[in-house]
Amino acid sequence: MNPKVFIAKPVPREVFDYVSENCDCKMWDSDDDIPKDVLFDELRDAEGLLTSGTKIDSELLSHAPNLKVVSNISVGYNNFDLKEMKKRGVLGTNTPYVLDDTVADLIFGLILSSARRIAELDRYVKQGKWNKGDNENLFGIDVHHSVIGIIGMGRIGEKVAKRAKFGFDMDIIYHNRHKKTKIENKLGAKYVELDELLRKSDYIVLMTPLTKETEHMISYNEFNLMKKTSIFINASRGKTVDEAALIDALTCGKIFAAGLDVFTNEPIEKDSHLLKMDNVVTVPHIGSATYRTRLDMAKVASKNLVQVLLGKKPQNIVTELKD
Ligand code: DGY
Repeated sequence: MNPKVFIAKPVPREVFDYVSENCDCKMWDSDDDIPKDVLFDELRDAEGLLTSGTKIDSELLSHAPNLKVVSNISVGYNNFDLKEMKKRGVLGTNTPYVLDDTVADLIFGLILSSARRIAELDRYVKQGKWNKGDNENLFGIDVHHSVIGIIGMGRIGEKVAKRAKFGFDMDIIYHNRHKKTKIENKLGAKYVELDELLRKSDYIVLMTPLTKETEHMISYNEFNLMKKTSIFINASRGKTVDEAALIDALTCGKIFAAGLDVFTNEPIEKDSHLLKMDNVVTVPHIGSATYRTRLDMAKVASKNLVQVLLGKKPQNIVTELKD
C-alpha cells in the first residue's frame, strides 16, 4: 500500500501528480486556510504532510500518530516545534537554495523603493500631486557607494552582499553567529559586532531566522544606535523585530525609512501604524513569490517528502532534526 500524504496548501498540478505517483495523496485545494478540525481529521492516518506555515506543535502531532515527515514549502521553519517533532520521531524538511536569488532581488527592491521613495512617489503621481516646481520634497537617499549591514549572513545574505558589491559598489559589513571567511575574501565583507553594524550602516538588512534567541533582537536599544538617515529592511520573520520599537523609530525620526516583507502578524492588522506612514514600504511576505521559484520550491518540497516516505534520505532535513 502506498503511504498516505496530505497536502495542506494547493500546489501546482505537476507537483500533485508527482506525489500521487508515489503516495496515496489528498490536497486542500483552496487559498483559504484549512480549518483546524479538517486538517486534524485528514492527518489521522497520514504519514506525510506537505505544507507551509502550518504550526506543527504537540496538538497537531497528537492528531497525527502515523506522521513521519512534515515537508515545508519554505526555507524558514519557525512553524516547527523542533523539540516535539524530535520526541515523536517526525522529520522536518525545507527548501533552501532555490529561492536565494529571488529573495535577494526582493530585498534590493525594498532597499531601492525605501531609499528613492518609489512606492510613496508612485502614489504621489497617481494622485495628481505632481506639479511644476516640485524639487527637494521628492529627494531620496543614494544606494550606491553606501554601507550595507547584513544581519544573518546565510545563503540569502550572501546573495544580497553580491548584489551590493557588484551592482551598487557598496561597502559590506555583517554580523552572524560564525564568521564567513569565504564571503569576506570573495566580496570584501567585514565581520563586525552587532552594535557596530547598527551604528555604521546606511542600510540594515535583517535576514536571521526566527528562533527563541533572535525574537525581538531588534528593539528600542538597537534602533537608538542606528543613524537617523538609515534604512531598515526586514525580510526574515516579523517577530525578529519589536514592532512597537520599529514604529517608534519611524515616528520619532530615529531612522529614515523601512522596507518590510514580514510582520508580527500576517496579514498585518488593517489599522497598524505601519500602514499609515509614508516612509514605510510594505509588501505581503512575497520574498520567494515568483512563478518559477514557487514552482521550484514545491518541487523540492515534494521530493523531500516522497524520499522520506520511500525510506530514502531526503536532501533537506532541517539541521536540528538531522540524526
Ligand atoms: C521562506 O521560504 O521562508 C520565505 O519567507 C518565503 O518568502
